[in-house]
Amino acid sequence: MKPRGLLMIEHRLIEKVLSVAQQKALSMTELDYQPAFVETIVDFIKTYADRTHHGKEEDILFTELAKKKLDDDHLRIMKELIDEHQQARSKTEEIVELNEKFKKDDRSVVPAITSAIVWLAGFYPAHIQKEDAVFFPGTEPQFRQDELEDLLNRFYEFDRMMIHEKYQKVYQFIKS
Ligand SMILES: [Fe+2]
Ligand SMILES: [Fe+2]
Repeated sequence: MKPRGLLMIEHRLIEKVLSVAQQKALSMTELDYQPAFVETIVDFIKTYADRTHHGKEEDILFTELAKKKLDDDHLRIMKELIDEHQQARSKTEEIVELNEKFKKDDRSVVPAITSAIVWLAGFYPAHIQKEDAVFFPGTEPQFRQDELEDLLNRFYEFDRMMIHEKYQKVYQFIKS
């Protein structure tokens, strides 16, 4: 498999989860709102979509591409992609803060949480399409075959650490 194959497999799960999250968010009301459901969505976005997936893109793929001679178009797109990751992080933090308000009995935040989830569900497919159809295939020729193999191995190693990082965080959280 090529490195982008692994990232594209992850894209499919991100799309599926956000599609279901959007459906459920649109049916939520102030009366049946479940903070735990939103926490599950937030955990998926933070741990999987951001740390595990964007992590491989930013810390490995984009970092290696930055060492190559990218043309202006691809450089511009890479900056856009990084900026879009940041936008998704900000929107996710917004959801976390609103969910905390709900838990302190502010039920008025439910429509804002719904619209933030709907925003993410609309945002990601466009971001993913830009990577799958334009940026990944367009920049792949920058790498030799052995470099592609090395990237894939570094992706696997990055993934291998994620479960340990996740549960180290759980430990830090419960002892604080
Ligand atoms: Fe991305
Ligand atoms: Fe991606």
